[in-house]
Amino acid sequence: MQTPYYLIDRSRLQRNLDKIAWLREASGAKALLALKCFATWSVFDQMSRYMDGTTSSSLFEVKLGHEKFGGETHAYSVAYGEDEIDEVLENCDKIIFNSIGQLSRFRAQSEGKIRGLRVNPQVSTSDFDLADPARPFSRLGEHDPAVIEAVLDQVSGFMFHNNCENEDFDRFDAMLTVIEERFGPLIERLDWVSLGGGIHFTGENYPLAKLAARLKAFAEKYGVQVYLEPGEAAITGAATLEVTVLDTLNNGKDLAIVDSSIEAHMLDLLIYRESAKILPDTGPHKVMVCGKSCLAGDIFGEFSFEEPVKVGDRLSIENAAGYTMVKKNWFNGVKMPAIAIREENGEIRTVREFGYEDFRSALS
Ligand SMILES: Cc1ncc(COP(=O)(O)O)c(C=O)c1O
Repeated sequence: MQTPYYLIDRSRLQRNLDKIAWLREASGAKALLALKCFATWSVFDQMSRYMDGTTSSSLFEVKLGHEKFGGETHAYSVAYGEDEIDEVLENCDKIIFNSIGQLSRFRAQSEGKIRGLRVNPQVSTSDFDLADPARPFSRLGEHDPAVIEAVLDQVSGFMFHNNCENEDFDRFDAMLTVIEERFGPLIERLDWVSLGGGIHFTGENYPLAKLAARLKAFAEKYGVQVYLEPGEAAITGAATLEVTVLDTLNNGKDLAIVDSSIEAHMLDLLIYRESAKILPDTGPHKVMVCGKSCLAGDIFGEFSFEEPVKVGDRLSIENAAGYTMVKKNWFNGVKMPAIAIREENGEIRTVREFGYEDFRSALS
């Protein structure tokens, strides 16, 4: 198969889905896929059997969730425009407003719909201010219990999202306690609470049973339906980016240039200054794997290989499902990776290819 392509592996995906199914059963919480992280709908047939629906960040995501995933469709956006609100309402079961300003502005249009409000508990697990919902002056949600109480009759639920790749159950537990202390009296008057995404509960060694017990206790204490909005946790480890080495050189280090670009195809790694992952990453030959765009820092990372890397070698970059396909772009006109699925019987099927026509039609 011609590289580059994202390869989604249904068996690996299933491992996460099995954990989600167990957590739903044990905790009573519902799980909605966060489309901002992963929206490759060719595997929604599999995911929708283990998850309750989707949550969204825009009109287009809410439409996609409604059309391709089904189940419960939550609509959320940092801000809706007058031109899109009616279509959002047509495509969702619940609408969550980011601010009291938006709730008031669209109060009449959303009458009769299940409504919620994003609440910012002003604590988070993110150290990276770019991704920290609790950063100073954050626009993500209302934070003052007294101000929120004044509109409580207009909503039946809250959405909190303050975890970020949080692998630490105790940290999650402590932050939920902060939420309870600050907003408990309000939560008691609600029907549902979404605790957002960012909980890395499908990771190895995560104490899933503790999480289930904590969510169940929370739901029972306040009499609410709990929702989780896993993005990364739903698809972690489920895809690779398959690339081919186009050139090698040594500029003090051994370099390999591949037919992909971190900026165009795995943008989050660049934004958060993280290295990609190539396994097993053991062996005596250290090589810096670089992208083919003109960006000087278009570098996937440095990896250890058993053999020297040569032109024509195929490399497989791990963890390529989350925040990759949803963010890919046409920078430098680098060929956009196709999307392929490895079925459970091992067969690989290409579900989408991109060519020059797509590049041209993305602009005018
Ligand atoms: C409101 C909301 N829900 C869910 C998610 C998904 O988070 P993750 O992919 O870390 O699980 C995000 C991510 O930014 C979010 O902002």
